[in-house]
Amino acid sequence: MSRQRPAAADEGPIVPPTTAGLAALEAEAARRVAEAGDLAALAEVEAELVGRRSRLNAWKRMLGGLDETTRRNLGEAMNETRRRIEAGLAARRATLETVARGRVLEADRLDLTEVLAVPGPGHLHPVTQVREELEDIFLGMGYEIAEGPEVETDWYNFTALNMPPDHPARSGQDSFYLDVGDGESVLLRTHTSPVQIRLLERGELPIYAVIPGLVYRRDTPDASHLPIFHQIEGLVVDRGVTFGDLAGTIGSFTRAIFGADVSARLRPGYFPFTEPSAEFDISCTICKGAGCRTCSGVGFIELGGCGMVHPAVLESAGVDPEAWSGFAFGFGIDRVTIMRHGIEDIRSFLENDVRFLSAF
Ligand code: PHE
Repeated sequence: MSRQRPAAADEGPIVPPTTAGLAALEAEAARRVAEAGDLAALAEVEAELVGRRSRLNAWKRMLGGLDETTRRNLGEAMNETRRRIEAGLAARRATLETVARGRVLEADRLDLTEVLAVPGPGHLHPVTQVREELEDIFLGMGYEIAEGPEVETDWYNFTALNMPPDHPARSGQDSFYLDVGDGESVLLRTHTSPVQIRLLERGELPIYAVIPGLVYRRDTPDASHLPIFHQIEGLVVDRGVTFGDLAGTIGSFTRAIFGADVSARLRPGYFPFTEPSAEFDISCTICKGAGCRTCSGVGFIELGGCGMVHPAVLESAGVDPEAWSGFAFGFGIDRVTIMRHGIEDIRSFLENDVRFLSAF
């Protein structure tokens, strides 16, 4: 096959180019490169401008018949022209590739901002999730889950818990009373402890139970207080239960809730229905006990109250304190949820803002 192909009819006879001829070719090349609208068109233009059948190639082939000086000068000028045309082709190719990629992306685009008209299935409230997790932890320790009424009598909420009518501890719990019965005798329970009495009254011993539920206090809501919140109460009554059992149990469940690197500590406290009584803290989940803003530099965060069930409480429910002993504890579930997720304002739990709730 002959390598010398005839030139196209419109190109005219092939004669060695002049400087002006090279400049004209370069100008024409620049125009055609700029006009190529896509990569396929550019490939065609490229073959015509610098390919085997291009005019540049034909000119190159005739260099051999020229004298040495002319050959060198013209050869150099032709190489320069080819280099600039190739640079123009490369730049145009890069532009067209970007455009092509953009078209593919545009065609493949998923609109992730779309709001579906039909809402998804939703999920449990973050506090309910933590409540269920706590229930699982205690079920795993052999406890039963018990419940009691949110509307209580003065007897269960106070008197049977060793708080007779004039007991000073009553004033610490600002109660919502209901306009039912004699005077202030029916109220929204201020804690889950009245369920201790209801469990003892069943007369079935031993007892290993936790009681989750809502409680009500006349508190003005702020970032860390709600007038309605969740507690979980624990009650264990058996033969020979000791304070050591209580301390060990608190250590176990706080580790189960917050992780093995969290430690619990007991501080002396006072509750009319336990003796001795203690408050229990956990090492700060943020700074691991070193002291930070969340724990006010203390390294510990207060979680709840606990103690050995007061003999008077056992007696008021008809259980013999000589034969049986026990411990009780109580803490806020909303509080645990806040600590778990680093939530800043406890009121978010009641606002029903789907944007907040959907984060959990
Ligand atoms: N009922 C107490 C409170 O609400 C907590 C508590 C429960 C303390 C059981 C001791 C034993 O603050």
